[in-house]
Amino acid sequence: MSWSERLALRALHCLEPERAHDLALKALAAGLAPSPGPVSSSRLATSVAGIAVPNPVGTAAGFDKNGVAIAQILAAGFGFAEVGAVTPRPQPGNTKPRLFRLPEDRAVINRFGFNNLGMEALAHRLAGAEGVVGVNLGANKDSTDRVADYVAGLRRLHGKARFFTVNISSPNTEKLRDLQGADALRDLLGQVMATREELGATTPIFVKIAPDLSDGEIADIAGIAVELGLSGIIATNTTLAREGLRSHHAREAGGLSGAPLRMRSLEVLRRLRMETGGNLPLIGVGGIASGEDAYARIRAGASLIQLYSALVFEGIGLGARIARDLDDLLVRDGFAQVADAVGQD
Ligand code: FNR
Repeated sequence: MSWSERLALRALHCLEPERAHDLALKALAAGLAPSPGPVSSSRLATSVAGIAVPNPVGTAAGFDKNGVAIAQILAAGFGFAEVGAVTPRPQPGNTKPRLFRLPEDRAVINRFGFNNLGMEALAHRLAGAEGVVGVNLGANKDSTDRVADYVAGLRRLHGKARFFTVNISSPNTEKLRDLQGADALRDLLGQVMATREELGATTPIFVKIAPDLSDGEIADIAGIAVELGLSGIIATNTTLAREGLRSHHAREAGGLSGAPLRMRSLEVLRRLRMETGGNLPLIGVGGIASGEDAYARIRAGASLIQLYSALVFEGIGLGARIARDLDDLLVRDGFAQVADAVGQD
């Protein structure tokens, strides 16, 4: 990290976390962050579910909910960006404060509750976007038919994104995670896939799951994803667990992310790999903060990886650093392509 980035981070950490994030995104959108351009090499370039990316390191959902800094995220060196979560109608989210830094734990707790400007605003943002951008779909808090919300998001935004994520794992919208149950999930994903077919689209659809699932639930979800022809599974979202934290914000309600999530997300990924035998692309997210972390996730079965919380502590330049370090690790271990390293463990 350069001294100017370090200074900027220090200044941001003096501010209330949500304000700091808004300001950081504004600065990013205004071109005030380093933009070395896409990091790529013959090893890092890969294609997953038909999506070609210059490198497998992306931003996770929630970082740029409204898609205001897509070009700048990609110019900072990320291989792809996932924007959202977006809900059909704009909504304010939960009352503030709703974002907490846990510096001693290299972690974050959030209970935003899908604050976003809605799918119309995002449709306009995506109209001019270049590069690989996916959309994380959510449901409005007061929706009487949540399945219809995911379907509406897909209908409005199809053709404007390179992939969609059905996010049923945010802990901050009451009962949303219930959609991970086998029957509810089959119904939801069945309707989403039927809508995609009706639209004549082939855009990859991923489902994003929570880390707080039993092995049996993970197996059920993997089975349903394969059965219904989904393009992959993103593991994981934030956790409700709170073990081993030191920061005084540890007891705040919401989803915990960052370093304390790393082992659990890796475990869930390993489970998914076991259940799907490498036949379904997996995307690893949760506590990734270095090239080593990214590489471990890839060796465990992830074709792509994403991060958010580590950016809070290391700055937006971390994506490029992880991609370059990952490239070095691939060279070290003699892999000609990152795809060859997927699932090697
Ligand atoms: C998130 N995350 C998230 N996930 C999602 O699917 N939709 C969303 O809208 C959000 N929003 C969101 C906001 C904030 C403030 C955070 C910190 C996280 C979860 C995120 O995409 C990721 O899955 C987890 O944070 C784990 O990765 P990291 O943060 O440990 O790298």
